Amino acid sequence: MDRKTRVILCNYTKGGAGKTTVAVHIARILTEQTPGKVLLMDCDSRPDSWKFFAGQRPSPNQARLSFPHRLDLWWNPPQSKGARFKPITKREYKQYNFVVIDADAPPEDALTLLDNTLPDIFLVPIAESQSHATEDIPIFLEDLEREIRFQRDSGIDYNPTVKIAPLGLEIEEIEAEVDIRLFSDIEIEICVPMQSLDKEIRKALKEKNLIWEYPNLADTKSYFINLIKDKKIPEVN
Ligand SMILES: Nc1ncnc2c1ncn2[C@@H]1O[C@H](COP(=O)(O)OP(=O)(O)OP(=O)(O)O)[C@@H](O)[C@H]1O
Ligand SMILES: [Mg+2]
Repeated sequence: MDRKTRVILCNYTKGGAGKTTVAVHIARILTEQTPGKVLLMDCDSRPDSWKFFAGQRPSPNQARLSFPHRLDLWWNPPQSKGARFKPITKREYKQYNFVVIDADAPPEDALTLLDNTLPDIFLVPIAESQSHATEDIPIFLEDLEREIRFQRDSGIDYNPTVKIAPLGLEIEEIEAEVDIRLFSDIEIEICVPMQSLDKEIRKALKEKNLIWEYPNLADTKSYFINLIKDKKIPEVN
């Protein structure tokens, strides 16, 4: 792929897994740690990432919003007719260094967005309150692997990294369900877990503040910086 834009798709097949949490914090890290321009594309019918930055739902006929600090928002909810999501045009890819996608839970939406945007990083959050949903990770990874193979079989040089982010869970809780060595065709990483902060993150999302803006939680910023550190994003260090 000769595209310069880095695409990060935040998704897991369970509601409340932490998709919006990682999408908004990572979008801000990218604008803070890199000189690049960031598009946060909210593909959820409930535009929580949009609302986080904009403070309210998009008004009718408003799907785009520009912010200071090189952050743009786009609400691109699933459509029931025609193409499920509006495509990102070549012109838009040229305009942005990073696209962060907050995708809704249905697995077919994740696969459609994979197909549409060929993300460089597939970020899979699993929050403590959804720890029962760890048992579905292998099926989710099998779906991803199949789709990634399909892209390669059609001639695309496509090697995304899949990063599983335990949010308040122990790494063992993930490892007990998934043996990443079984997925020989995709690069999978189980990231260092974030400290358990369920109440604090709920409050931050509700009050529309970044978690590191609260007293005593400033060091949570390094968690998100580390989460996004990857050889595909050399600008973050
Ligand atoms: N470090 C953490 N420790 C514990 N819980 C966390 C942590 N980070 C996030 N969570 C929890 O994860 C939950 C996920 O919230 P979030 O809205 O980001 O999920 P979502 O996947 O976007 O949900 P939805 O499917 O409704 O869009 C929140 O309840 C939040 O408290
Ligand atoms: Mg969400």
